[in-house]
Parts: sequence; C-alpha cells; structure tokens
Amino acid sequence: MSTETIGIIMNGVTGRMGTNQHLVRSILAIREQGGVTLEDGTVLMPDPILTGRNEEKLKALAEKHGVKKYTTDLDSVLADDSYQIFFDASGTPYRVGFLERAIAAGKHIYCEKPTAVLSSEAYRIAEVAEAAGVKNGTVQDKLWLPGIQAFKQLKEAGFFGEILSVRGEFGYWVFTGHDEGQPAQRPSWNYRSEDGGGIIIDMHCHWRYVIDNLFGEITDVFTHAETHLPERIGEDGQPYKCTADDAAYALFKTKTGVICQFNSSWDVRVRRDDLFTMQVDGTRGSAIVGLRKCWAQSMENTPRPIWNPDIDSPIDFNDNWEVVDPGPCDNAFKIQWEMFLKHVAREERFPWTLREGAKGVELAEKSLESHDKGAWVSVG
Ligand SMILES: NC(=O)c1ccc[n+]([C@@H]2O[C@H](COP(=O)([O-])OP(=O)(O)OC[C@H]3O[C@@H](n4cnc5c(N)ncnc54)[C@H](O)[C@@H]3O)[C@@H](O)[C@H]2O)c1
Repeated sequence: MSTETIGIIMNGVTGRMGTNQHLVRSILAIREQGGVTLEDGTVLMPDPILTGRNEEKLKALAEKHGVKKYTTDLDSVLADDSYQIFFDASGTPYRVGFLERAIAAGKHIYCEKPTAVLSSEAYRIAEVAEAAGVKNGTVQDKLWLPGIQAFKQLKEAGFFGEILSVRGEFGYWVFTGHDEGQPAQRPSWNYRSEDGGGIIIDMHCHWRYVIDNLFGEITDVFTHAETHLPERIGEDGQPYKCTADDAAYALFKTKTGVICQFNSSWDVRVRRDDLFTMQVDGTRGSAIVGLRKCWAQSMENTPRPIWNPDIDSPIDFNDNWEVVDPGPCDNAFKIQWEMFLKHVAREERFPWTLREGAKGVELAEKSLESHDKGAWVSVG
C-alpha cells in the first residue's frame, strides 16, 4: 500500500470555522485516522501549512495542535509545488482576492461559503478557476449532517409520498454584550454589512444548496429582512452600530412545486429540537430534521386533533414521532473534505464547485433585492 502526500495551504484558519471544523475536526482528524484511502488502495495523507497575517496567532495554533508548518508569507507557499490545494476560511470580503492569487499559482481551490460578497464576483471567480483548469469546491457542510442523512434515507424510501412544504427554523439568541456576564458569542463582523456580515449572506447561501439538493431548485424568493438589535458590543469592548440584517423571514418556490419557508434569526430563544430544524410535510408522512436527529411521523401515526382552547390538549403532539437512525455519521465538514481530496487526487466526482457556491451568493443577493422591493424576485 503506497502513501501519497497532499499539501494543503490552510489560510485564515485561526478563526472559529477554520480552527474547529477545518483544521481540528477535518484535516487533523484525517491525519489521525491514517489518511484517506483511495479506490486503488493508495493512502492520501494531508500535509497542512497554516497561513495568515498574525505570526503569533499562527504559532500558538500550530503548537497547540502539533502542526509543524506555518507562515505569514503566502506568496512563498503559493510558489511551492509541494502544496496542491489552497483552502480559505478567512473573512468573506477577502476570499476572492486570496482565491485569485492561488488560482494564478495553479492551486486547486477549496473554500468556505460565501465565496464572495457579490454574486458577480462569486461567478467571476468560478469562471477564473474553470478557465485555469484548477479543481474547485465550496463548503456545503449541511448536506452531510446526520439529521439530513436520515431525512435523505426516508425520502429515498418514499416515506413522504409527495413532499408539499418545508418550514425551516434557524437561530438562537446571540448576546449583544450589553448583559452582565454574557459576552457576545459570535464575531462582530457578522453584524456589519461593510465587513461582509448579515444573516442573509450567511444563511441563505446554505438554504440555497439545502433546498436545491433536497427539495428542488429554487425559482423565486420573497424575503423580509430586519436588523432587530441596532447595537452590539465588539471585541474591543466598545459598542458598534449593527448595519447588517440579523433576522430574515423568507419564502422560496422551487421547480418541483415544494414551498419552503425559512426563518433565520440571531434574536430568538430556542424551544425546538435543535438550533436548526426543518419540518417536511408530505402526503404520506412528515419529518422534523435537526442537525443530528430526525423524527418521522407516518400517516398511520398522524393524530386527529380537535380545536378546543378551553381544555388542555388531550394529545401530546410530541408523541407518535419515531427517531430515524442514519447509522454512524462522521463530521459533516470532514466528509466533504475527504471527497474533495479524492477529487483532487483521482478525478472522483465533486459537484459542489465554486459555481454552485456562487448560486448561494446569488440567492442572498436576490433575497435582499426582494426585501428592498417588497416583492417576489425570480432566481436564475
Ligand atoms: N460553513 C459554515 O457553516 C460557516 C459557519 C460560520 C462561518 N462560515 C464562514 O467562514 C468564514 C470565517 O468565519 P468565522 O466565523 O470563522 O470568522 P472569524 O472572524 O472567527 O475568522 C475569520 C478568520 O479570517 C482571518 N482573516 C481576516 N482577515 C484576513 C486577512 N485579510 N488575511 C488573512 N486572514 C484574515 C482572521 O484572522 C480569522 O482567522 C466566513 O466567510 C464565514 O461566512 C461558515
């Protein structure tokens, strides 16, 4: 059995997503498990180098996790043929600039979503990658969540009959920093549109590939956006003005006729099964799809409620739902990383490209357009 090393430049991974999901739970986890085995038996071993602006932060991250290599000199590693892949998890406004440099250096590209702030830029960088002939991919992690894996099994088994509608609820209370002992738990740039923030650009990128892949391609969007909380406290302890939307109330029509309604909010308290749930209702059955679990109710188990507000409901509506076990599931980001590594090494199929990622940015843009016009907007 031979081993091939695959060099990966990991840029901007001192941040939340880069450190937790991509470095620790994906690349280092793949190294710990002994690499990725290809169909011909070859083992692919990722060899990461961390890049970023701040040497101290890179050093601390590398030392903490036993990563040998890091540098602030991106050009030197872009010029180094031992690195085939450039990965970016830096802030959204910087993504396209980094990708452009890496594509010019002939690297294969993998990156976080959103791939750009504007859809024109997102499509342009996809074209630049395609024209250069480099392989490319965008993170679409939600597709490999255990809850969604379980849903797909139900769908493939015909459990739902015809799927009619989907109601997605995403969100939780993100503290503003004003409350005693409750510092803000998300980076402040998320609440400033000038820094690439906003719940629409963040979450509608996800809803695009989730809906397109699971229910049918989105054809039209109607969105109302709000900035419910006008001020939050930044990393420097100072108040700042929130210029980006922190809640979005959206309806999506699809080619298949499935109607999807997704609420996304950082200003809601949770009394549901998970931070993200989708209720999928079909003619023969329904499911609640969470991040890790999925609950299903068949026609046979569907209760017959009678409207009577004068008494407590005789039916416990949480009864008659069965937990659907998707079987063992790995980390969603790691699953997609393994597929991308195989794609780079051996041409294996990888449809989650920069062009697919651009569709998510486009949906976000159309959603904001819908909000501005107060009207439905068609999605190309
Ligand atoms: N797939 C998902 O579910 C998901 C979830 C959250 C965030 N994200 C995306 O991941 C990206 C990072 O988000 P985060 O929450 O980790 O943010 P973060 O603020 O924690 O991290 C951003 C990282 O980018 C680095 N950075 C910023 N400017 C840079 C520059 N000019 N050069 C080099 N590095 C720079 C920062 O130092 C930091 O390491 C964003 O694009 C965000 O939309 C994806």
